[in-house]
Amino acid sequence: MGAEAPPARSWTRAQRALHWWDAGFVLAAFAIAWVMVGVPLAELLLKFVLFQVHKTLGILAFLVALARLGLRAARGRPAEDTALPPWQVRAAVGAHAALYVLLLATPVLGYLTASLAPLRIPTLFFGVIPLPALTGPDKAWFAIVFALHRVCAIALVLLAAGHAAAAIRHHLLGRTVLVRMWRG
Ligand code: HEM
Ligand code: HEM
Repeated sequence: MGAEAPPARSWTRAQRALHWWDAGFVLAAFAIAWVMVGVPLAELLLKFVLFQVHKTLGILAFLVALARLGLRAARGRPAEDTALPPWQVRAAVGAHAALYVLLLATPVLGYLTASLAPLRIPTLFFGVIPLPALTGPDKAWFAIVFALHRVCAIALVLLAAGHAAAAIRHHLLGRTVLVRMWRG
């Protein structure tokens, strides 16, 4: 992703905070998704609340990802570690680009899933702000878009797990990559 701005010395405080909030929102939305779908219809209130929490966390992940991309375009990011072999730098750049794509695509597909759902459950941001459905209900499209939403969500979390493992490995090898994202 973009060489829009010159390399910065480190991540800014805002960039670091937003990275960890984004990771938290994604992981929480992912965990709640499986619970909310599994809750029986007999427990309607719990199911409703969990859907709203899931949707709110997912929208927050999307907004934070947009803010991160905005900051990155404005402030840049620290240079890649030049001690790394070029293939590892390319892998990191590719993984970060794919993470950003999935960070945007997964919530958009989720929003479309909610819009297409045959069972009209409103989308209430923070449980109170109603957000409009983008389409009417459509069973056939719902099945397709929901499957895509789920696949993107799983790909996002698997890629993030590999990304976290790589960050920890570099840290254990004595590199500063994790420290500079944690403390700057
Ligand atoms: C990064 C953000 C998100 C992640 C990781 C995520 C993850 C998931 C996963 C894994 C499922 C499937 C659960 C299952 O099949 O048991 C799911 C379902 C769902 N998601 Fe998301 N989601 C995100 C954002 C959103 C957003 C922003 C919305 C809507 C505003 C949304 C709406 C839905 C709906 C409506 C379903 C269930 C469809 C149904 O069973 O009727 N998601 N999500
Ligand atoms: C859902 C979880 C996560 C997502 C979506 C995510 C996403 C990202 C993205 C997109 C970047 C690139 C930032 C940029 O170039 O603008 C990044 C950087 C980074 N992430 Fe994550 N991340 C997640 C979790 C984690 C975890 C758990 C760790 C550590 C254990 C971690 C450590 C790092 C580090 C150290 C960097 C900086 C890499 C560098 O300086 O080149 N991330 N993350």
